[in-house]
Amino acid sequence: MMPGGAGSPLQQLIAQFGSSIIVTDPAQLAAVNVDHRKLYEGKALALALPRSTAEVSKLLAFCNALRIGVVPQGGNTSYCGGTAPDASGTQLVLSLRRMNAIREMNPVNDSMIVEAGCILADVQRAATDAGRFFPLSLGAEGSCQIGGNLSTNAGGVNVVRYGMARDLVLGLEVVLADGRVLSTLKTLRKDNTGYDLRHLFIGAEGTLGVITAASLKLFPAPRSVATAFVAVQTPAAAVSLLAELRKSCGDLVSSFELIPNIAIDLVAKHLPGTRSPLEAGSPWYVLCEITSAMSNEPLGERLETALAAALETGLITDATLAQSERERQEFWFLREHIPEAQRRDGSSLKHDISLPLDRLAEFIASSSDWLHDQVPEGFLVCYGHVGDGNLHFNINQSSNSVATGALLARQNEIRRAIHDRVHEMGGSFSAEHGIGRHKVEELERYASPLELELMRNIKRAFDPNGIMNPGKVLHSGSASR
Ligand code: FAD
Ligand code: MLT
Ligand code: ZN
Repeated sequence: MMPGGAGSPLQQLIAQFGSSIIVTDPAQLAAVNVDHRKLYEGKALALALPRSTAEVSKLLAFCNALRIGVVPQGGNTSYCGGTAPDASGTQLVLSLRRMNAIREMNPVNDSMIVEAGCILADVQRAATDAGRFFPLSLGAEGSCQIGGNLSTNAGGVNVVRYGMARDLVLGLEVVLADGRVLSTLKTLRKDNTGYDLRHLFIGAEGTLGVITAASLKLFPAPRSVATAFVAVQTPAAAVSLLAELRKSCGDLVSSFELIPNIAIDLVAKHLPGTRSPLEAGSPWYVLCEITSAMSNEPLGERLETALAAALETGLITDATLAQSERERQEFWFLREHIPEAQRRDGSSLKHDISLPLDRLAEFIASSSDWLHDQVPEGFLVCYGHVGDGNLHFNINQSSNSVATGALLARQNEIRRAIHDRVHEMGGSFSAEHGIGRHKVEELERYASPLELELMRNIKRAFDPNGIMNPGKVLHSGSASR
């Protein structure tokens, strides 16, 4: 049956694509109806599970003709509600989980071509198996998909050395809203041939088209690594330590994460068997790692020397180096389970912000004081990728019963105060998690009228009927404003 033929849109979809691609099983729909943080629960028309780019192309052409909204969903681990359909029961959730092939591995060219439904950890493993390295790394890597990573322009723990997801892409294959396939799956490092279209889709959160495959950059595999867990008294000391490490270790610094003591306590409370690597407590810690592609490099000695100098000047108060891969994994386990520990502890408000590095400590100091005075319902769990100026300025609900529900009730007011302060200080209200549905109003508030106008023009050019992830990033209907 063709678009516009008899029957409801759902009947037409099933007639056209079959029930192995158009899934209506309530249990499967329940899982895709809600985003990771359970901020938004909608009602999907159905779940589409195509097996090839050609099938995605046909699906989108069909949906475009019938004006069916399409909500792409990867691993559904993102934080801004970008994956949830609305409550109308008319939007199709599209998952590429069946499209998970590594199409090409090219160690000589330092590139690989992967389908968008590949789990990030599988992409990393395939690179490692080929003797290379794919550096994108984040706590959700066991379940997020590369298509989702590129669509959110994910950051993670290696940005300080390798950049964000955007910096790791050589080319993309994208199905446009009308079903046409744009293929720029090049493996070239240099290609100045007009506008670089791939970057429009990276970070677009599924609002401009569906990424079906990507050509990714590979790097020499790290063969030497040194990892330290360092006690500092203040975020200002952490920022100075980063500068010192950069002086002594240069671009070997691949991760530099700030962790408050409260986060270590939360992980220890909710994930039994974990503990701080340092016996004496400290208000703040840094987890830092230096790596080199050269084997047998004395990185441990190098890091130890740098940290000893920092101890001498009082910049740090204690430090320990991982003595084995197991110990290194334990350090990272603590860091990567902070979001889970926070979630298990109760409701929280997330603020994924970035600031110029030279203002980061000032921001934490003034905003902590403000929170302490003005938000007794919550306590601050501020951690993050400080090497990139990115803080997860999260607030958890205090455990006393008086406060139950009170923090969430004030979330808009608190978010406004924090984001206004970030904006005034030259920062961003969304460093790595994107806009989704949750931060559409924030984008309206902080982007300039010209930026918004250009974004709407781009949306209109790529998706004139507004079928791609409606209501995410920009208000629904923005394309036609
Ligand atoms: P989804 O959540 O499924 O989708 C994200 C957005 O992309 C949605 O708008 C969706 O519509 C769109 N989309 C998905 N696939 C496609 C596609 N093929 N084509 C077009 N659009 C698509 N994020 C970071 O940046 N850094 C971190 O350090 C980090 N740590 C995390 C730790 C934990 C424990 C968790 C749970 C999450 C973390 N995240 C982090 C957030 C999240 O993992 C990332 O945003 C990730 O990139 C999302 O990938 P996904 O496959 O789950 O995408
Ligand atoms: C992380 O870095 O752990 C996540 O991006 C932050 C979060 O879960 O808030
Ligand atoms: Zn993060």
